[in-house]
Amino acid sequence: MSAVSKPTSSTTAKSARLIVDGKEVELPVIVGTEDEKAINIASLRGSTGYITLDDGYMNTGSTTSSITYLDGEQGILRYRGYPIEEIAAHCDFVETSYLLIYGKLPNSQELEEFRESIRQHTMLHEDMKSFYNGFPRDAHPMAILSSVVGALSTFYQDSLDPRDPEQQKISIHRLMAKLPTIAAYSYKKSIGQPFNYPCNELSYCENFLQMMFAVPTESYEPDPVFVEALNLLLICHADHEQNCSTSTVRMVGSSNANLFASISAGICALWGPLHGGANEACINMLNEIVADGGNVKKYVQKAKDKSDGFRLMGFGHRVYKNFDPRATIIKAAADKLLKRLNLKEPLFEVAQELQDVALNDDYFKERKLYPNVDFYSGIIYRAMGLPTQMFTVLFAIGRLPGWIAHWVEMHQSSATKIGRPRQIYTGPTIREIVPMSERP
Ligand code: ACO
Repeated sequence: MSAVSKPTSSTTAKSARLIVDGKEVELPVIVGTEDEKAINIASLRGSTGYITLDDGYMNTGSTTSSITYLDGEQGILRYRGYPIEEIAAHCDFVETSYLLIYGKLPNSQELEEFRESIRQHTMLHEDMKSFYNGFPRDAHPMAILSSVVGALSTFYQDSLDPRDPEQQKISIHRLMAKLPTIAAYSYKKSIGQPFNYPCNELSYCENFLQMMFAVPTESYEPDPVFVEALNLLLICHADHEQNCSTSTVRMVGSSNANLFASISAGICALWGPLHGGANEACINMLNEIVADGGNVKKYVQKAKDKSDGFRLMGFGHRVYKNFDPRATIIKAAADKLLKRLNLKEPLFEVAQELQDVALNDDYFKERKLYPNVDFYSGIIYRAMGLPTQMFTVLFAIGRLPGWIAHWVEMHQSSATKIGRPRQIYTGPTIREIVPMSERP
């Protein structure tokens, strides 16, 4: 393929030419506001009969988007143009959510209205509590989260039309408000404690901690250091452009499925250990190393051994091949929290050792495998006393505004079509059915 024209400063072609089977086609070039370039191949099959093939979407853009910009080589992450470091320093999670969903920082009145609306929707319908009795006591909270979020569509049938702005708005506020309640109830159920109703005097993060840790027999004051760390973690997880779960939300939403159904699917995608499940997998791995005598070198060796399927959980990233800016922010929070709590558990020592070994080992350096956000978030959640199975749930609460923002953006775009990739079929060509009696 060759560039058709070479404009002066940016050297960006206006189109690209592809020669296939001796036929030349001209394909338009799309340039983003950060000078990212794409060749639009929408007409390729129609004009040549060819499709493109790109396992894992390593090089395929599924949409244009104005929500989040990230540059994996330079370690840049910006929500709506604002650097993540600035947002983490100046905004709280609810304000960040407003920014992502509505595309601008709110003024004080807009923010107060948003907070107030979320506060008013924190309770679950009483009938929903009975769902929790149907799950096994040891059910994974991600399965519960996804099921109960999907079930919201049965209780709020008045707000399921994704094309109606008023219905969109109410379902967004309901979901933002109820997800922490749904999450905390799943934990309370698993340990046999009564559910705590949300307390609307508290902030978003304080309220979640209260629903998780308060018991009716004692008064509970959320620890401000935990609140700060949780707020930071939720902000750092709030969006990450077209990752696996966000792409899932967009894909499901593209069929005009309602918001609750689309987010429920995103929660399932996030659950996997190669995505949001990595923070849980990371702590499980650290526990395994501790139980095995704390021999970090052995596990580093296993991760490097291609005949061994083992990978160091919490290391590596599809996009960040230099450093993950979220990991930098969260590492500082983790260091602060561990110093403040003065925890001497072997798990934290193993984590430190693992980090040092991996950062200095050629295998990891050559492949640019750095500790990612899940490595440090798992450590913080563990230090806060959150149960391991809840780690990915926390990630889901953080990622919710990002999922919503993408779902809304998709519905607002006139370019949106139902997501329907193509394939290259590699199975048998036509053959006849052999009668049962003649089959080997
Ligand atoms: N441990 C050991 N080796 C690794 C690791 C790891 N964690 N990650 C990648 N590698 C190696 C691969 O074996 C491969 O080596 P090779 O070139 O010799 O074959 C090379 O590094 C490139 O790996 P890929 O799998 O091609 O990288 P990809 O971009 O597809 O995968 C991923 C990224 C899934 C994050 C991967 O690094 C991984 O599995 N990490 C562990 C799970 C994890 O922490 N996931 C969380 C991601 S962050 C998030 O979702 C918020």
